Amino acid sequence: MLAAGVLLLAGCTLVGTEAANGTNNELLVIAHRGASAVEPEHTFRAYDQALEDGADYIEIDLRKTADNELIAMHDDTVDRTTDGKGLVENMTLMELKTLDAGEGQSVPSLEEILERYGDSVNYYIETRESDDGELIMEEDLLQLLERHRIPKRQVILQSFSEASVNALHDLNPALTLVQLLKKKEVEQLDADNLQDFQKKAVGVGIYAGMLDKSLVDLIQMNGLEVHAYYRGDEREWTEEMLRYNVDGIFSDDPAYLANIAEKQE
Ligand code: G3P
Ligand code: CA
Repeated sequence: MLAAGVLLLAGCTLVGTEAANGTNNELLVIAHRGASAVEPEHTFRAYDQALEDGADYIEIDLRKTADNELIAMHDDTVDRTTDGKGLVENMTLMELKTLDAGEGQSVPSLEEILERYGDSVNYYIETRESDDGELIMEEDLLQLLERHRIPKRQVILQSFSEASVNALHDLNPALTLVQLLKKKEVEQLDADNLQDFQKKAVGVGIYAGMLDKSLVDLIQMNGLEVHAYYRGDEREWTEEMLRYNVDGIFSDDPAYLANIAEKQE
């Protein structure tokens, strides 16, 4: 969190609280796939760099392997981010481990990530449905977090799938959840559906190019935080996001975000 210069772990206490009463001047710096502009995304190098650069959270996209292991990868195939080819869901963890995810790094499983960082960091983890719309990872994810004794206050779970957010909430209403929204859903936002989201989530995640000050205000007035994400256009939108006083930003380069945010204080 930049404004207060507070240590990493204090960040979680802000989520879902200060935004609701309009007093949150502090920004959550969420390292999008780690410091993915600087190091290969979703590798330990990217997460380590993000933490070194002052990120409050490391963001992790989850995928499930053929042998039901949760791993950190954004795409449904390994093609873009490794030297391999194929669908993640058709590969075992052992097969994935033979691939180079960049700079000689391997694709980390969630288990390995939790083993490496334990409760020393904050996690911002994204769930996804399977291609045929099944919920496939919520229970496994919660079990892993539990097994590694990661305190709930150090975890935000996010999804574009409302069914997944609902399932997570049903599994444990104390979880900190963020509903990611697609273009059509953002266009339909009003006080009624924001109030519905607010019953289970602390915030919504919205593409920066869709946000304006009045929308940010509407969301915050309805008790939700706004976490902005980019589509490879971080430098185009960051200053505007800071002016709108969003509550969190997914950044590919936390050092850049921290720097620009400090200048605007
Ligand atoms: O999770 C927020 C942001 O990461 C959503 O976009 O496609 O990068 O997962 P994506
Ligand atoms: Ca994501």
